Amino acid sequence: MLERGQGSHVWDIDGNEYIDFMMSFGALIHGHAHPTLVKTVSEAMAEGSHFAAVTSAETEAAEQFRRMVPSAEVVRFTNTGSEATMLALRLARAHTGRRRFLKFEGHYHGWYDPFLLNAHSHPPEQLGPAENPARIPDSEGIPSSTFDDVILAPWNDVAALERVMKMHGPELAAVITEPIMANMGCILPRDGYLQRLRELTRDCGTMLILDEVVTGFRYAPGGCQEYYGVAPDISTFGKALGAGFPVGAVTGPRAILERMRWSDHMVLHYGTFNGHRLTMKVVAANLDMLAPEGTYPRLHEIGNAAIAGLRKVFERNHVKAIVQGFGPMFQIYFTEREAIRDYRDYCRYVDVRRYSQFVHRLLDRGIYMTPSNGLHWIISTAHTEADIAVLLESADQACAGLA
Ligand SMILES: Cc1ncc(COP(=O)(O)O)c(C=O)c1O
Repeated sequence: MLERGQGSHVWDIDGNEYIDFMMSFGALIHGHAHPTLVKTVSEAMAEGSHFAAVTSAETEAAEQFRRMVPSAEVVRFTNTGSEATMLALRLARAHTGRRRFLKFEGHYHGWYDPFLLNAHSHPPEQLGPAENPARIPDSEGIPSSTFDDVILAPWNDVAALERVMKMHGPELAAVITEPIMANMGCILPRDGYLQRLRELTRDCGTMLILDEVVTGFRYAPGGCQEYYGVAPDISTFGKALGAGFPVGAVTGPRAILERMRWSDHMVLHYGTFNGHRLTMKVVAANLDMLAPEGTYPRLHEIGNAAIAGLRKVFERNHVKAIVQGFGPMFQIYFTEREAIRDYRDYCRYVDVRRYSQFVHRLLDRGIYMTPSNGLHWIISTAHTEADIAVLLESADQACAGLA
């Protein structure tokens, strides 16, 4: 049980100290209790935390957002990433007048009913053929009719994408995708994949929803859309946007987001806590802290040092493991493969039991990370070379005697 955190370190209730590489599923882009954010919150709290009305804090946060993310002509704040993806789908359906949408195997977009299909891993024999995947709900309590409007496809496979878009493209309101598959660890898009997806969706009049809840404000000021040069219709954000505060955002062109303006035909987006003043103050301060030019090169430098170091550790110890990803986010896979390229690779070739064992051995050595292989290692602006040195030494020791 964790008790407190400072910078890149956390302490449990027994006083044990750990270096935190989970960073609240990536939300803590500046680590724990950053002094600037502590000051921001304390000062804002003294003036009132929330008004359920537009505040200058909200407009300041949105302006800062727009400066960093070029596709964000308009920004709408929600309280979580799940609410953002839910709203994005509603906007896409309203804008296109279409009902169905496509999601990819292994992608997680929050816990809204229609997204909860094949977001978990399963034994390979349950997956069905790639061209017609078995449809496996992730939760009880969802009527099966909810999924009638969902087309499911494998990700990172251009031929499969072309096939499915040919068959269903013109009836799809949206295709929703993570730019990097971050919920099966860290799986990068093949060269040109996101660009081809952009072309095909545009040809079909289908909205491309880029779910940057994990990747936004992490890889570049403008997220993966900037990094990979892909222009979505609608984007969703969360996690790092709030630096530890609960927030999400939907962004896109005015023509789409204006559908939320009050009228008889509006797209409804209510919520008592939307645009919460305290959170908006944190968002503005956070984006201000991320804006300086050196921020992202430094995140990449520290992350790449950890990745290169871990690769050497596994090589030195003759452990069959790969480290996938780059810069501020990566994952370790115990596998005989050279790369894990999609959901099916993950389900087939990744030894998740071994990973859990490895992470538990790290935990005993002061490294805090979740044993779930489906998540990923996170580098924040609080991590230092010294943290990476401790990680590598601990990883070296953890390799010895690994079953
Ligand atoms: C890609 C992606 N989209 C959406 C969400 C949902 O965000 P939240 O947990 O803030 O509701 C997550 C959460 O992990 C996510 O990884």
